[in-house]
Amino acid sequence: MHSLKEQDQFETPGDPTDQTPDTDNRFFQADRAVPAIEFRNVHLAFDEKVILNGVSFKVNRGETKIILGRSGSGKSTIIRLVLGLLKPDSGEILIDGDDITFLNEVQMMEVRKKLGMVFQEGALFDSLPVYDNVGYRLHEQNVDEEIVEAQVRQMLSFVDLEDAIDKMPSELSGGMRRRVGIARALIGRPPIVLFDEPTAGLDPPTARTICELAIKLRDIQDVSSIFVTHEMKNLEYLSSEYAVLDEDGEVVFEEEGEKLCIINTGILMIKQGDIIFSGKNEELMEEDDPYIKRFLNGK
Ligand SMILES: Nc1ncnc2c1ncn2[C@@H]1O[C@H](COP(=O)(O)OP(=O)(O)O)[C@@H](O)[C@H]1O
Ligand SMILES: [Mg+2]
Repeated sequence: MHSLKEQDQFETPGDPTDQTPDTDNRFFQADRAVPAIEFRNVHLAFDEKVILNGVSFKVNRGETKIILGRSGSGKSTIIRLVLGLLKPDSGEILIDGDDITFLNEVQMMEVRKKLGMVFQEGALFDSLPVYDNVGYRLHEQNVDEEIVEAQVRQMLSFVDLEDAIDKMPSELSGGMRRRVGIARALIGRPPIVLFDEPTAGLDPPTARTICELAIKLRDIQDVSSIFVTHEMKNLEYLSSEYAVLDEDGEVVFEEEGEKLCIINTGILMIKQGDIIFSGKNEELMEEDDPYIKRFLNGK
């Protein structure tokens, strides 16, 4: 069976119906200095309860930003704000430099085309086969079936599940369902992907596979992402491994050496609505703060 080489799989992010070759290389596109996502002093409270207390951060282009924090600390809330499912009480949220804070639902639909969302449980439609689950977004936009099929196959190939195309979700393992969920998030080639606890409940080898998909997106496809997790293993994979293409165009994963610092992953830790850490993995490991130390030790 013919399998596409990695570099052929994604072209310019954007219009899913655009089948023209990638002539305008991404390096000549929008200013790379403009962050993919930016929060500026975002406040949000539900009734009296403060959820985000003036949160500011940037996700740079091609960067994976890991958001760590205990249950209830506001991680999913941040994701919902990016998607425009919630609006902040004050502050600004920018995507690709555009202020989305006050956009209405119709305007947000346009913005969401740039965003892929991977839910914790995979959130597949149980009554639809894998093909229709992955192609859902394009079907909603009435894209030609030929184009839908080509993209569904590409994305299933990206998550290494081409053979599952006609299966029903109930016939798949937990890890496979999660990978289908990722393929679905990637349809339309969004330049930004949001992962909310994508490895929750998975065994360690399967969780690693999910992390490697995120690494592949980061390093080969130049996707910017937020990766919410409280699992320290994920942090380790995303901060120490990188993906490159070998001479045959196959993806290989390498470990970052001692001296290198090339991995494009930043970490935020959030506690009761405040960002208490922002930096690289190496800096996080050297933190003296007792709360952070307890968290890193899984307590
Ligand atoms: N719609 C809502 N109404 C009231 N409280 C909410 C709502 N959504 C979330 N919360 C509260 O906000 C806090 C943060 O939630 P969430 O962002 O889901 O946390 P996390 O994803 O870090 O576990 C929690 O205390 C939760 O109970
Ligand atoms: Mg959550």
